[in-house]
Amino acid sequence: MSKKLIIAIDGPAGSGKSTSAKLVAQKLKYLYIDTGAMYRAVTLFALRNNLMGQNQLISELTKNLDIVLEFIDGETKITVNGEDVSNEIRSFEVNSNVSEISAIADVRKILVKKQQEMGKNGGVVMEGRDIGTVVFPNADVKIFLTAGIDERAQRRALEFSEKGTNIPVEKVKENLKNRDFIDSHRSSSPLTKSPDSILVDTSNTTIDQQVELIIAEVKKAETK
Ligand code: DC
Repeated sequence: MSKKLIIAIDGPAGSGKSTSAKLVAQKLKYLYIDTGAMYRAVTLFALRNNLMGQNQLISELTKNLDIVLEFIDGETKITVNGEDVSNEIRSFEVNSNVSEISAIADVRKILVKKQQEMGKNGGVVMEGRDIGTVVFPNADVKIFLTAGIDERAQRRALEFSEKGTNIPVEKVKENLKNRDFIDSHRSSSPLTKSPDSILVDTSNTTIDQQVELIIAEVKKAETK
């Protein structure tokens, strides 16, 4: 039987991480872990309870949140204190506030610990912003996906419209640029490519090509 590896996939929003990470996990029969969903869940909690800006309080309350992440029928299911919030965490409002929450160092500490626990036995494809740098710096395969801003904005706008919300591409683009800036300039584990990760530009590749490329890297790592 082949080794159960840890595969880290990082990159900015709309770079194709989720789509390719899910397919890679499916092919390898690995667990898919969407860490962004956890930051989104804390954001939703903060918004609903009017806590935005009260970072210390948010961190305190996050400690006691029971966040459960599962992958069912090809979709991420996330519950907070037993309530399924899988759809609500994808709203435009959460999108607009999640970078502020994920910049809180204490919130990151709590969620990173949970992520390390979930992935420690291997057999996981974990996607996020800091997986190869902070969560699993010794991951067996590290991929950094990227794509041009226009391409990423088109993809996100299409995702919203498929879910019945029409947001102009320009507005999505502004939101992405803003998130990119905050995510990569925050002091606590900013989005950055670790020198030992493999850079994959998805602007002009098909999903199948991205998946093949990642699987090829996994095969190489399996024999190491
Ligand atoms: O992957 P996503 O768009 O669902 O992530 C939502 C936000 O969460 C993103 O703007 C940055 C943050 N995030 C993070 O800081 N670290 C992670 N490991 C995953 C996501």
